[in-house]
Amino acid sequence: MQTLTITQPDDMHLHLRDGDALRAVLPFTARQMGRAVIMPNLKPPVVSVADALAYKQRIIAVLPEGSTFEPLMTLYLTDKATPELVREAKAAGIVAFKLYPAGATTNSDSGVTDLFKLLPVLHEIAAQDMRFLVHGEVTDSDIDIFDREAAFIERVMKPVLAQVPNLKVVFEHITTAEAARLVLEAGDNVAATVTPQHLLLNRNDLLVGGVHPHHYCLPVLKRESHRQALLEAVSGAQAHKFFLGTDSAPHPQHAKENACGCAGMFSAATAIELYAEAFEQIGALDKLEAFASKNGARFYGLPENTDTITLVKQAQTVPNSFPIGSGGNLVPMRAGGCVAWTMQA
Ligand code: DOR
Ligand code: ZN
Repeated sequence: MQTLTITQPDDMHLHLRDGDALRAVLPFTARQMGRAVIMPNLKPPVVSVADALAYKQRIIAVLPEGSTFEPLMTLYLTDKATPELVREAKAAGIVAFKLYPAGATTNSDSGVTDLFKLLPVLHEIAAQDMRFLVHGEVTDSDIDIFDREAAFIERVMKPVLAQVPNLKVVFEHITTAEAARLVLEAGDNVAATVTPQHLLLNRNDLLVGGVHPHHYCLPVLKRESHRQALLEAVSGAQAHKFFLGTDSAPHPQHAKENACGCAGMFSAATAIELYAEAFEQIGALDKLEAFASKNGARFYGLPENTDTITLVKQAQTVPNSFPIGSGGNLVPMRAGGCVAWTMQA
């Protein structure tokens, strides 16, 4: 049977939530990943150093016995951020600030209204060698939802990089050929995460044959040519600029199957196996380890994990749902279907 042993991966973009949901989803990631960059869009968001350190303790408190998983903490950038906050965050071991343009996605109401007013903060993020994580979508009402990412590149990303050229930016969960090109053409201070859903699905999977609410995430799935551009980016000559970030984002089933359904897909239970499928599709399984386990660590200035994991080419059936406490449940990506690979226990 075909097996693949790789350095233990890291998830450089993860939503863990809090309370019952945190307790329910954390073991899935802790089983596969050495570390994860933890998104700060809680309700209320993680905006201060004290918030982040308290959240980190809540995560560590519910880790499975004996787990060596390490959460890498981030702060939610608001209009009120200051250079002093950046210095405080760096001193406390926080790795990054996350930009959510106001109104762009789940819990982004406290997001930034005008990034150009925060240039002193961005300069300090660069000076402190922290990372700047970007949800790259504009929210202007004149922009079609499928064009939000491409418009962000022209209206925000390029002007910001021109003003703060040494900023280390992660263009998070990229979905378009335009975003891949921006990263490819930028210096090595610009990188991107890519989710399993944007490598495996296109907008037909969201809308053909009925609305598929469990395939609704933000940025929204795009047309097939964009999926192909992402596959090319993660396996091409400059693949070192792209790395694993699942954006696994748990929402209870009732909130997804709703007249106004929430954005987010829960992929953590079979994350590395889904990525293996995507890389296998394009004959690039030999590139999976760099994407999953090396490029992200290097970009964040972290050592690679020393453990390994082994994937076996053996299909597994994904459960229809997982319990998330107080009677709720969570429908994962590929629910009730098969994933071609299985990570060994
Ligand atoms: O689909 C998404 N879900 N995109 C995001 O940017 C946020 C995430 C969430 O927190 O649920
Ligand atoms: Zn996210």
